[in-house]
Amino acid sequence: MRTAPTDIAPPDGKLGILLVGLGAVSSTFIAGVELIRRGMGQAIGSLTQLGTIRLGKRTERREPLIRDFVPLADLDDLVFGAWDIFPDDAYQAAVRAGVLDASQLEQVREPLSAIRPMPGVFDSNYVRRLRGKHVKQGPSKWDLAQQVRRDIERFRETSGASRLVVLWCGSTESYLRPTAVHASLDAFEAGLRANDADIAPSMIYAYAALTLGIPFANGAPNLTVDIPALLDLAQQRRVPICGKDFKTGQTLMKTILAPGFKARMLGLTGWFSTNILGNRDGEVLDEPASFKTKEESKLSVLDVILNKERHPELYANYAHQVSIHYYPPRGDNKEGWDNIDIFGWLGYPMQIKVNFLCRDSILAAPLVLDLALFLDLAGRAGMKGIQEWLSFYFKSPQTAPGLYPEHDLFIQLMKLKNTLRFLRGEDLITHLGLEYYD
Ligand SMILES: NC(=O)c1ccc[n+]([C@@H]2O[C@H](COP(=O)([O-])OP(=O)(O)OC[C@H]3O[C@@H](n4cnc5c(N)ncnc54)[C@H](O)[C@@H]3O)[C@@H](O)[C@H]2O)c1
Repeated sequence: MRTAPTDIAPPDGKLGILLVGLGAVSSTFIAGVELIRRGMGQAIGSLTQLGTIRLGKRTERREPLIRDFVPLADLDDLVFGAWDIFPDDAYQAAVRAGVLDASQLEQVREPLSAIRPMPGVFDSNYVRRLRGKHVKQGPSKWDLAQQVRRDIERFRETSGASRLVVLWCGSTESYLRPTAVHASLDAFEAGLRANDADIAPSMIYAYAALTLGIPFANGAPNLTVDIPALLDLAQQRRVPICGKDFKTGQTLMKTILAPGFKARMLGLTGWFSTNILGNRDGEVLDEPASFKTKEESKLSVLDVILNKERHPELYANYAHQVSIHYYPPRGDNKEGWDNIDIFGWLGYPMQIKVNFLCRDSILAAPLVLDLALFLDLAGRAGMKGIQEWLSFYFKSPQTAPGLYPEHDLFIQLMKLKNTLRFLRGEDLITHLGLEYYD
């Protein structure tokens, strides 16, 4: 199938990337971009920088880099800003996070030190383990939203950015179920004025960004833009949004392995996942209310991929458990263990053990880059609302109401690449391939 190419405005001028939360992920991301554009590192893990896309028939041998195929902002044109509830600049935040070597950070100390976070919108009921002092004060949540809007406008002026995107890279907020205040934009705005307790800080940033027509991505599992009020706002303002929860270590592995078991019709009796993690994220997730948000996000992937209703003989009764333990000595270097109990022909059991000694922020930083560049592309292409084609990057992809998310990493990748082909008016690739045998 081929359609006319979509009009996409060129990425002229600078793209401002505003990060809510200047912790391990954000500082590793910014430091990485600064190093890469000085030729001191490579954008490993980034589809926008290293990925290719096949076009047309296999015999045509057309496989450009994605960044040569769609008009993406250049790394040299990125400028950064942030909010945090601690005043550490990006250099100090990166040193504190301890992800990158001190000698490597020293090479970009100057640009990192220049990025000082704006005071955050904070409510300790939503992140109980942190007590920051670098926070905004105001009579109401409405007033705080206006302060965030002014921050964004000021950043736009001082940075000279011609376009902006906002990404939530802040701590995971406490578990929250959608309530009446999230059900419509009117109710939400009334709730902002009335200081409704169910409006989380992340929603205030998202509201501010969307009202200014700025795309928003949510890297954590909190609801944030996944509520009818903000979905409506994104539609009305014709702004692209996406979320939730960056898909990195253990869940990335799960969405690589589970589709394989399902493809081979192998059964599952249990999947036990545990992690030790010692960074600030681990400390926040050690708190039950924040972990509950993360747990929901981590647990959902298997049910959707395996579809036990359709395959009760294989997946009806599997046990799925996930835990995260805060273990300071490991810092950002998370260790994830998976014990997977599967069964095969005639029900004979087998076991698989996965021990992933990963680096959380090293896996997340390229996702921040790709999401910023793709959301900016979506905005210039006139795409609005939920960007399901960016599911590839998330543990709990946002979808249209009533639609189940695609969790299989390979379906997600196909969806992403076909969206790019669609935007450029190229044939979508079905992998049918019968034409080679005519
Ligand atoms: N690293 C990964 O692989 C990964 C994967 C999925 C999701 N995430 C999520 O990404 C987020 C960032 O992870 P991280 O490792 O950088 O955590 P981090 O704790 O190092 O950084 C989070 C930062 O957000 C700040 N913050 C908290 N509430 C804020 C608010 N209301 N306003 C402004 N700043 C606020 C904190 O002070 C902290 O500096 C977390 O929610 C984490 O769960 C990370």
